[in-house]
Amino acid sequence: MTRPTERQDGITLADTRSPAGPPAVYRRGMTVIRLRPLRADERELLQTATLGNVNWCGERFTRHDVVARPEFSHYTHIDPARGDFGIVAESDDATVGVCWAQFLPADEPGFGFVAETTPEVSAWVSPAARGRGVGRRLMESLIVTARESGLERLSLSVEDGNVARRLYESLGFSPVAGREDEGVMLLRL
Ligand SMILES: CC(C)(COP(=O)(O)OP(=O)(O)OC[C@H]1O[C@@H](n2cnc3c(N)ncnc32)[C@H](O)[C@@H]1OP(=O)(O)O)[C@@H](O)C(=O)NCCC(=O)NCCS
Repeated sequence: MTRPTERQDGITLADTRSPAGPPAVYRRGMTVIRLRPLRADERELLQTATLGNVNWCGERFTRHDVVARPEFSHYTHIDPARGDFGIVAESDDATVGVCWAQFLPADEPGFGFVAETTPEVSAWVSPAARGRGVGRRLMESLIVTARESGLERLSLSVEDGNVARRLYESLGFSPVAGREDEGVMLLRL
């Protein structure tokens, strides 16, 4: 189900109803971006995304760190049996972004962990595709999916100075009292 809307920047967007439905499509010039569900076997994509996330402010960690260090490696695979899910954005020839939600256990918490019943969200867009609305569309689609699944909350963490915070705030995420220094935020669905 799509309802195109014309934005001032010339991008034609289509409403994202559900990743399970017809692919959501939007265009910028000749570029068409489609959203689809993330598959459990897409570990390499999540490694790349996690590497981009931990290095959002510059080169701090290597791909080896992401694979070998438990505080990072648990972000590199989803477990649908646990309820994890995600959305991928792709153009005709490349994957341009992904966001995903994980029910990490209390004894292996992520940086944005608040409860085992509240999935933690991560988001990444490839550098060349940033600033064109891909991140917002991915997050909106993930939120729609979470609501339709009956989830009550989503959490995440964002480091001080990351422009991603503005995106999350505009989507309704707010800081968790007492954990502001860790950048933990919560969205009530
Ligand atoms: C954060 C990220 C996923 C956003 O994806 P994106 O496709 O660039 O974001 P969008 O173009 O949809 O922009 C969404 C909002 O983010 C903010 N934003 C994005 N780029 C920005 C910039 N350069 N300066 C200021 N704000 C910016 C704006 O609030 C923007 O709102 P708008 O839609 O009203 O313009 C992407 O920049 C990224 O992957 N960054 C590196 C990894 C990272 O930091 N991940 C998040 C870890 S918490």
